[in-house]
Amino acid sequence: MKIGLLTSGGDCPGLNAVIRGAVLHGIKSYDYELVGFLDGWRGVVEGDIMDLPRSSVRGLARVGGTILGTSRTNPFDGPNGGPENIAKTIEKLGVDAIVAIGGEGTLAGAKRLADAGLPVVGVPKTIDNDLQATDYTFGFDTAVQIATDAMDRLRTTGDSHHRCMVAEVMGRHVGWIALHSGMSAGAHAILIPEQEVPMEQVAAWVSEVHERGRSPLVVVAEGFIPEGFDEVLHNKGLEADGRPRLGGIGDYVTQEIERLTGIETRNTILGHIQRGGAPTSFDRVLATRFGMGAVDLVRDGAWGQMVALRGTDVQRVDFSEALDGLKTVPEARYDEAKILFGR
Ligand code: F6P
Repeated sequence: MKIGLLTSGGDCPGLNAVIRGAVLHGIKSYDYELVGFLDGWRGVVEGDIMDLPRSSVRGLARVGGTILGTSRTNPFDGPNGGPENIAKTIEKLGVDAIVAIGGEGTLAGAKRLADAGLPVVGVPKTIDNDLQATDYTFGFDTAVQIATDAMDRLRTTGDSHHRCMVAEVMGRHVGWIALHSGMSAGAHAILIPEQEVPMEQVAAWVSEVHERGRSPLVVVAEGFIPEGFDEVLHNKGLEADGRPRLGGIGDYVTQEIERLTGIETRNTILGHIQRGGAPTSFDRVLATRFGMGAVDLVRDGAWGQMVALRGTDVQRVDFSEALDGLKTVPEARYDEAKILFGR
Protein backbone atom coordinates (compact mmCIF):
# COMPACT_ATOMS: atom_id res chain seq x y z
CA MET A 1 0.00 0.00 0.00
CA LYS A 2 1.36 3.40 -1.00
CA ILE A 3 -0.33 6.41 0.65
CA GLY A 4 0.00 9.99 -0.62
CA LEU A 5 -0.45 12.79 1.92
CA LEU A 6 -1.25 16.37 1.04
CA THR A 7 -1.65 19.56 3.06
CA SER A 8 -3.89 22.20 1.51
CA GLY A 9 -5.27 25.64 2.41
CA GLY A 10 -3.73 27.93 5.03
CA ASP A 11 -0.75 26.58 6.97
CA CYS A 12 -1.53 25.57 10.53
CA PRO A 13 0.54 24.46 13.55
CA GLY A 14 0.23 20.67 13.77
CA LEU A 15 0.30 19.83 10.05
CA ASN A 16 3.77 18.34 10.40
CA ALA A 17 2.65 16.35 13.44
CA VAL A 18 -0.15 14.81 11.32
CA ILE A 19 2.43 13.85 8.68
CA ARG A 20 4.69 12.33 11.34
CA GLY A 21 1.81 10.39 12.95
CA ALA A 22 0.71 8.99 9.59
CA VAL A 23 4.24 8.05 8.49
CA LEU A 24 5.21 6.36 11.76
CA HIS A 25 1.94 4.45 12.12
CA GLY A 26 1.89 3.49 8.43
CA ILE A 27 5.45 2.21 8.40
CA LYS A 28 5.65 0.70 11.91
CA SER A 29 2.21 -0.92 12.08
CA TYR A 30 1.52 -1.94 8.48
CA ASP A 31 4.76 -1.63 6.52
CA TYR A 32 3.05 0.86 4.15
CA GLU A 33 4.97 3.29 1.94
CA LEU A 34 4.24 7.00 2.44
CA VAL A 35 4.77 9.84 -0.01
CA GLY A 36 3.81 13.52 0.08
CA PHE A 37 2.19 15.57 -2.71
CA LEU A 38 3.84 19.00 -2.85
CA ASP A 39 1.83 22.21 -2.33
CA GLY A 40 -1.57 20.67 -1.77
CA TRP A 41 -3.71 19.66 -4.73
CA ARG A 42 -1.10 21.15 -7.11
CA GLY A 43 1.13 18.17 -6.34
CA VAL A 44 -1.73 15.77 -7.03
CA VAL A 45 -2.75 17.41 -10.28
CA GLU A 46 0.86 17.70 -11.52
CA GLY A 47 2.08 14.42 -10.04
CA ASP A 48 4.72 16.23 -7.96
CA ILE A 49 5.67 14.06 -4.96
CA MET A 50 8.43 13.47 -2.39
CA ASP A 51 9.23 10.29 -0.52
CA LEU A 52 8.42 10.20 3.18
CA PRO A 53 10.72 7.62 4.76
CA ARG A 54 10.82 7.31 8.52
CA SER A 55 13.90 9.56 8.70
CA SER A 56 11.97 12.42 7.03
CA VAL A 57 9.70 12.88 10.06
CA ARG A 58 12.30 12.81 12.82
CA GLY A 59 11.57 15.59 15.36
CA LEU A 60 8.73 16.90 13.18
CA ALA A 61 5.93 17.12 15.79
CA ARG A 62 7.36 20.32 17.23
CA VAL A 63 7.94 22.06 13.90
CA GLY A 64 5.31 24.55 12.64
CA GLY A 65 4.07 24.81 9.03
CA THR A 66 4.17 21.88 6.62
CA ILE A 67 7.20 20.20 5.05
CA LEU A 68 4.98 19.41 2.04
CA GLY A 69 4.12 23.03 1.32
CA THR A 70 0.56 24.16 0.73
CA SER A 71 -1.55 26.10 -1.75
CA ARG A 72 -5.15 26.91 -2.46
CA THR A 73 -5.12 25.07 -5.81
CA ASN A 74 -8.48 23.57 -6.75
CA PRO A 75 -8.15 19.89 -7.87
CA PHE A 76 -10.89 20.41 -10.48
CA ASP A 77 -9.16 23.31 -12.25
CA GLY A 78 -6.74 23.23 -15.18
CA PRO A 79 -6.14 20.72 -17.98
CA ASN A 80 -4.88 18.00 -15.57
CA GLY A 81 -7.55 18.50 -12.88
CA GLY A 82 -10.72 16.51 -12.26
CA PRO A 83 -11.29 12.92 -11.10
CA GLU A 84 -10.40 11.12 -14.34
CA ASN A 85 -7.05 12.89 -14.81
CA ILE A 86 -6.18 12.54 -11.12
CA ALA A 87 -7.02 8.81 -11.20
CA LYS A 88 -4.57 8.39 -14.12
CA THR A 89 -1.87 10.48 -12.40
CA ILE A 90 -1.96 8.59 -9.10
CA GLU A 91 -2.04 5.26 -10.92
CA LYS A 92 1.12 6.25 -12.81
CA LEU A 93 2.75 7.17 -9.47
CA GLY A 94 1.62 3.90 -7.89
CA VAL A 95 -0.31 5.77 -5.19
CA ASP A 96 -3.19 3.68 -3.80
CA ALA A 97 -4.82 6.25 -1.51
CA ILE A 98 -4.85 10.00 -0.84
CA VAL A 99 -5.01 11.55 2.64
CA ALA A 100 -6.20 15.15 2.24
CA ILE A 101 -5.35 17.32 5.25
CA GLY A 102 -7.20 20.63 5.11
CA GLY A 103 -10.13 22.86 5.97
CA GLU A 104 -13.60 23.29 4.54
CA GLY A 105 -12.50 23.98 0.94
CA THR A 106 -10.04 21.08 0.89
CA LEU A 107 -12.54 18.65 2.37
CA ALA A 108 -15.22 19.77 -0.10
CA GLY A 109 -12.80 18.98 -2.96
CA ALA A 110 -11.87 15.67 -1.30
CA LYS A 111 -15.55 14.75 -1.00
CA ARG A 112 -16.21 15.43 -4.68
CA LEU A 113 -13.25 13.23 -5.65
CA ALA A 114 -14.33 10.44 -3.28
CA ASP A 115 -17.89 10.68 -4.64
CA ALA A 116 -16.39 10.21 -8.11
CA GLY A 117 -14.81 6.95 -6.93
CA LEU A 118 -11.30 8.03 -5.94
CA PRO A 119 -9.65 6.51 -2.83
CA VAL A 120 -9.61 9.65 -0.67
CA VAL A 121 -9.84 10.09 3.13
CA GLY A 122 -9.46 13.29 5.15
CA VAL A 123 -8.01 15.03 8.18
CA PRO A 124 -9.78 18.24 9.27
CA LYS A 125 -7.61 21.32 9.77
CA THR A 126 -8.33 24.92 10.71
CA ILE A 127 -7.05 27.25 13.38
CA ASP A 128 -10.55 28.79 13.40
CA ASN A 129 -12.08 25.61 14.93
CA ASP A 130 -15.20 26.13 12.83
CA LEU A 131 -15.73 22.65 11.37
CA GLN A 132 -18.96 20.98 12.50
CA ALA A 133 -17.92 17.36 12.71
CA THR A 134 -15.09 17.67 15.21
CA ASP A 135 -15.00 19.14 18.71
CA TYR A 136 -11.52 20.56 18.10
CA THR A 137 -9.12 21.00 15.21
CA PHE A 138 -5.36 21.19 15.78
CA GLY A 139 -3.91 24.69 15.42
CA PHE A 140 -6.73 26.27 17.39
CA ASP A 141 -5.14 25.73 20.80
CA THR A 142 -1.84 27.15 19.50
CA ALA A 143 -3.54 30.22 18.03
CA VAL A 144 -5.39 30.86 21.30
CA GLN A 145 -2.16 30.48 23.29
CA ILE A 146 -0.25 32.88 21.02
CA ALA A 147 -3.09 35.44 21.15
CA THR A 148 -3.31 35.15 24.95
CA ASP A 149 0.44 35.70 25.33
CA ALA A 150 0.24 38.73 23.03
CA MET A 151 -2.64 40.24 25.02
CA ASP A 152 -0.80 39.71 28.30
CA ARG A 153 1.99 41.79 26.78
CA LEU A 154 -0.37 44.49 25.49
CA ARG A 155 -1.46 45.01 29.09
CA THR A 156 1.95 46.47 29.91
CA THR A 157 1.44 49.42 27.58
CA GLY A 158 -2.23 49.73 28.50
CA ASP A 159 -1.49 49.93 32.21
CA SER A 160 1.53 52.24 31.87
CA HIS A 161 -0.14 54.72 29.50
CA HIS A 162 -3.73 54.37 30.82
CA ARG A 163 -4.79 53.43 27.31
CA CYS A 164 -7.40 51.12 25.88
CA MET A 165 -5.75 48.30 23.93
CA VAL A 166 -7.49 46.57 21.03
CA ALA A 167 -6.27 43.20 19.74
CA GLU A 168 -7.52 41.98 16.37
CA VAL A 169 -7.41 38.20 16.05
CA MET A 170 -8.21 35.78 13.20
CA GLY A 171 -11.68 34.38 12.61
CA ARG A 172 -13.34 35.59 9.44
CA HIS A 173 -16.61 33.69 9.94
CA VAL A 174 -16.58 32.58 13.59
CA GLY A 175 -15.29 34.00 16.87
CA TRP A 176 -13.82 30.95 18.62
CA ILE A 177 -10.25 32.33 18.74
CA ALA A 178 -11.52 35.70 20.00
CA LEU A 179 -13.79 34.10 22.60
CA HIS A 180 -11.17 31.76 24.05
CA SER A 181 -8.18 34.11 23.93
CA GLY A 182 -10.31 36.99 25.23
CA MET A 183 -11.63 34.98 28.15
CA SER A 184 -8.20 33.65 28.98
CA ALA A 185 -6.55 37.12 28.82
CA GLY A 186 -9.34 38.75 30.84
CA ALA A 187 -10.67 41.00 28.05
CA HIS A 188 -13.28 43.60 28.94
CA ALA A 189 -15.09 43.20 25.60
CA ILE A 190 -14.99 40.48 22.95
CA LEU A 191 -16.42 41.18 19.49
CA ILE A 192 -17.22 38.24 17.20
CA PRO A 193 -18.88 37.79 13.79
CA GLU A 194 -21.83 35.92 15.30
CA GLN A 195 -22.96 38.80 17.53
CA GLU A 196 -23.98 42.29 16.48
CA VAL A 197 -22.83 44.75 19.14
CA PRO A 198 -23.29 48.53 18.69
CA MET A 199 -20.10 50.54 19.13
CA GLU A 200 -21.93 52.59 21.81
CA GLN A 201 -22.13 49.41 23.92
CA VAL A 202 -18.42 48.72 23.39
CA ALA A 203 -17.64 52.30 24.39
CA ALA A 204 -19.75 51.91 27.54
CA TRP A 205 -17.83 48.76 28.57
CA VAL A 206 -14.52 50.53 27.93
CA SER A 207 -15.52 53.63 29.92
CA GLU A 208 -16.69 51.55 32.89
CA VAL A 209 -13.35 49.79 33.08
CA HIS A 210 -11.41 53.04 32.67
CA GLU A 211 -13.46 54.72 35.40
CA ARG A 212 -12.42 52.11 37.93
CA GLY A 213 -8.77 52.76 37.12
CA ARG A 214 -8.09 49.76 34.89
CA SER A 215 -6.87 49.82 31.28
CA PRO A 216 -9.48 48.26 29.01
CA LEU A 217 -8.62 45.35 26.70
CA VAL A 218 -10.89 44.76 23.70
CA VAL A 219 -10.58 41.66 21.50
CA VAL A 220 -12.08 41.78 18.03
CA ALA A 221 -12.31 38.93 15.54
CA GLU A 222 -11.42 40.00 12.00
CA GLY A 223 -14.92 39.07 10.77
CA PHE A 224 -16.83 41.18 13.31
CA ILE A 225 -19.12 43.65 11.57
CA PRO A 226 -20.58 46.37 13.79
CA GLU A 227 -23.67 48.33 12.85
CA GLY A 228 -22.87 50.91 10.19
CA PHE A 229 -19.56 49.29 9.20
CA ASP A 230 -20.48 48.82 5.54
CA GLU A 231 -19.18 52.20 4.45
CA VAL A 232 -15.87 51.64 6.21
CA LEU A 233 -15.65 48.20 4.68
CA HIS A 234 -16.13 49.80 1.32
CA ASN A 235 -13.37 52.32 2.04
CA LYS A 236 -10.93 49.68 3.29
CA GLY A 237 -11.69 47.24 0.49
CA LEU A 238 -12.27 43.53 0.42
CA GLU A 239 -10.17 40.45 -0.20
CA ALA A 240 -10.77 38.68 -3.52
CA ASP A 241 -13.17 36.26 -1.82
CA GLY A 242 -15.28 39.08 -0.38
CA ARG A 243 -14.10 38.95 3.23
CA PRO A 244 -12.84 42.08 5.03
CA ARG A 245 -9.14 42.79 4.77
CA LEU A 246 -7.17 42.01 7.91
CA GLY A 247 -6.81 45.22 9.87
CA GLY A 248 -9.96 46.91 8.61
CA ILE A 249 -12.12 46.14 11.58
CA GLY A 250 -9.51 46.55 14.33
CA ASP A 251 -8.67 50.05 13.10
CA TYR A 252 -12.34 50.95 12.90
CA VAL A 253 -13.13 49.68 16.40
CA THR A 254 -10.10 51.57 17.76
CA GLN A 255 -11.13 54.85 16.11
CA GLU A 256 -14.70 54.49 17.30
CA ILE A 257 -13.70 53.77 20.91
CA GLU A 258 -11.46 56.83 20.92
CA ARG A 259 -14.18 58.99 19.36
CA LEU A 260 -16.93 57.85 21.71
CA THR A 261 -14.94 57.70 24.98
CA GLY A 262 -12.06 60.14 24.53
CA ILE A 263 -9.72 57.43 25.86
CA GLU A 264 -6.46 57.02 23.98
CA THR A 265 -6.70 53.69 22.15
CA ARG A 266 -4.29 51.54 20.13
CA ASN A 267 -4.87 48.61 17.79
CA THR A 268 -2.62 45.56 17.32
CA ILE A 269 -3.29 43.09 14.50
CA LEU A 270 -1.92 39.69 15.44
CA GLY A 271 -2.35 38.35 11.89
CA HIS A 272 -0.34 35.35 10.78
CA ILE A 273 1.71 35.26 13.98
CA GLN A 274 -1.27 33.23 15.28
CA ARG A 275 -0.46 30.47 12.79
CA GLY A 276 3.30 30.59 13.20
CA GLY A 277 5.85 28.52 15.06
CA ALA A 278 5.63 25.41 17.19
CA PRO A 279 2.27 23.81 18.05
CA THR A 280 1.19 23.45 21.70
CA SER A 281 1.35 19.98 23.24
CA PHE A 282 -2.45 19.66 22.91
CA ASP A 283 -2.21 20.30 19.16
CA ARG A 284 0.76 17.96 18.75
CA VAL A 285 -1.14 15.09 20.39
CA LEU A 286 -4.38 15.76 18.49
CA ALA A 287 -2.57 16.10 15.16
CA THR A 288 -0.53 12.92 15.75
CA ARG A 289 -3.68 10.96 16.60
CA PHE A 290 -5.44 12.36 13.52
CA GLY A 291 -2.51 11.27 11.30
CA MET A 292 -2.58 7.76 12.76
CA GLY A 293 -6.39 7.62 12.46
CA ALA A 294 -6.22 8.59 8.79
CA VAL A 295 -3.91 5.65 8.06
CA ASP A 296 -6.46 3.35 9.72
CA LEU A 297 -9.17 4.81 7.45
CA VAL A 298 -7.00 3.87 4.47
CA ARG A 299 -6.35 0.39 5.87
CA ASP A 300 -10.14 -0.11 6.08
CA GLY A 301 -10.83 1.41 2.64
CA ALA A 302 -13.11 3.98 4.30
CA TRP A 303 -13.11 6.33 1.29
CA GLY A 304 -15.12 9.53 1.75
CA GLN A 305 -14.51 9.53 5.49
CA MET A 306 -12.35 11.68 7.77
CA VAL A 307 -11.15 11.59 11.35
CA ALA A 308 -12.82 13.76 13.99
CA LEU A 309 -12.43 14.37 17.71
CA ARG A 310 -15.56 13.58 19.72
CA GLY A 311 -14.95 14.14 23.41
CA THR A 312 -11.54 12.51 23.80
CA ASP A 313 -12.03 9.84 21.12
CA VAL A 314 -10.81 10.01 17.55
CA GLN A 315 -13.75 8.80 15.48
CA ARG A 316 -14.52 8.54 11.76
CA VAL A 317 -17.25 10.56 10.07
CA ASP A 318 -18.42 11.17 6.49
CA PHE A 319 -17.02 14.25 4.75
CA SER A 320 -20.57 15.56 4.46
CA GLU A 321 -20.83 15.89 8.26
CA ALA A 322 -17.90 18.32 8.32
CA LEU A 323 -19.37 20.34 5.49
CA ASP A 324 -22.79 20.79 7.04
CA GLY A 325 -22.42 24.54 7.79
CA LEU A 326 -19.92 26.23 10.07
CA LYS A 327 -19.64 25.58 13.80
CA THR A 328 -20.42 29.03 15.18
CA VAL A 329 -20.15 30.30 18.76
CA PRO A 330 -23.52 29.60 20.44
CA GLU A 331 -25.30 32.56 22.00
CA ALA A 332 -25.06 30.93 25.44
CA ARG A 333 -21.25 30.86 25.23
CA TYR A 334 -21.20 34.55 24.33
CA ASP A 335 -23.62 35.45 27.14
CA GLU A 336 -21.39 33.56 29.57
CA ALA A 337 -18.34 35.56 28.44
CA LYS A 338 -20.32 38.81 28.59
CA ILE A 339 -20.65 38.47 32.39
CA LEU A 340 -16.95 39.38 32.47
CA PHE A 341 -17.21 42.49 30.23
CA GLY A 342 -17.25 46.13 31.38
CA ARG A 343 -17.50 46.78 35.10
O1 F6P B 1 -8.88 29.89 8.00
C1 F6P B 1 -7.71 30.15 8.67
C2 F6P B 1 -7.31 31.59 8.55
O2 F6P B 1 -6.14 31.77 9.30
C3 F6P B 1 -8.38 32.60 8.94
O3 F6P B 1 -8.52 32.78 10.33
C4 F6P B 1 -7.93 33.83 8.20
O4 F6P B 1 -9.00 34.66 7.92
C5 F6P B 1 -7.38 33.26 6.94
O5 F6P B 1 -7.00 31.93 7.21
C6 F6P B 1 -6.22 34.03 6.37
O6 F6P B 1 -5.88 33.44 5.16
P1 F6P B 1 -4.58 33.84 4.30
O7 F6P B 1 -3.38 33.26 4.99
O8 F6P B 1 -4.83 33.21 2.98
O9 F6P B 1 -4.54 35.32 4.28
